[in-house]
Amino acid sequence: MKKLLFQIDTDPIPAVFDTVVAYDGGADHVTAIGGINPANVGPIVDGAIFTRAPKEKKFTAIFVGGSDMPAGEQLLKAVKKKFFANFRVSVMLDSNGANTTAAAGVACLAKSAGGSLAGKRAVILAGTGPVGQRAAVMLVREGATVAITSRSMENAKKACDHIKASFGIDVQPVAAPDLDSRAQACEGAHVVFATGAASTVLLRETDWKRNPTLQLIADANATPPLGIEGVDMMDRGVDREGKICWGAIGFGSLKLAVHRACIEQLFEAADQVLDAEQIYARAKAMA
Ligand SMILES: NC(=O)c1ccc[n+]([C@@H]2O[C@H](COP(=O)([O-])OP(=O)(O)OC[C@H]3O[C@@H](n4cnc5c(N)ncnc54)[C@H](OP(=O)(O)O)[C@@H]3O)[C@@H](O)[C@H]2O)c1
Repeated sequence: MKKLLFQIDTDPIPAVFDTVVAYDGGADHVTAIGGINPANVGPIVDGAIFTRAPKEKKFTAIFVGGSDMPAGEQLLKAVKKKFFANFRVSVMLDSNGANTTAAAGVACLAKSAGGSLAGKRAVILAGTGPVGQRAAVMLVREGATVAITSRSMENAKKACDHIKASFGIDVQPVAAPDLDSRAQACEGAHVVFATGAASTVLLRETDWKRNPTLQLIADANATPPLGIEGVDMMDRGVDREGKICWGAIGFGSLKLAVHRACIEQLFEAADQVLDAEQIYARAKAMA
């Protein structure tokens, strides 16, 4: 029985990255289809769930991708809505690579903290994007108290409301439009995860180095200039001035490994939904 993966993408052209990782994760055949949305996904799901016997359904799976996480979330919802009784297959959501990127970053931070972030205060700088929002969910599940910053309070609140509605998790919104206010937002924090747009500097080196409570730092931005000055993109748990630092490439190898492992996992049973929490569990086990 061949392992078939239907890679449905909300962008017009499906991501080649996701196709390659799908094969590397063990799919025998990948069908990548772009331009998929809740209105046109129905026949694809029907084809996946009605074709194989119950015991064989685990050899068919669906991957939801694309550059737009809110669109991916809606598409995942529409896919799940079509499932009933045993008529379902496993599905994974990783639009924009957000779940696997956030999971790898948080899992590396937790590993550096000795396996748990319980009781820590974490600040996600520019956490309103897909990576930051997913990281917030994972950090809270690790037992941390989490705040996310944005250049505007309106955007920060919108992201926190979205996280609450999707995962039932409370995250504190913080307005921090410039380097000074972001340094201030990190005061009292034990963990800082920068998840800003590529090439956006969010925190000065002097500010994190003189922060007495800060223990752990990660930066998801791999496009210079990096998000946190003085952290190298290759850092893999490097000690800098008493702070453990992770750069985007430093935890990037785990991100890729987690993505592959999740694809492999899809074909183990027909009833799995791999979203933030399940993908984080996998990353933590692998870190
Ligand atoms: N390693 C990987 O495989 C991988 C995969 C995906 C993403 N990434 C990286 O992870 C990071 C986060 O990705 P993402 O897609 O979640 O990011 P994103 O949505 O592009 O940006 C995140 C947030 O950055 C803030 N921002 C944008 N321009 C800014 C500026 N000039 N100054 C300060 N803040 C600014 C915005 O927040 P406000 O408007 O609310 O302030 C935005 O919501 C990126 O650097 C991306 O390249 C890496």
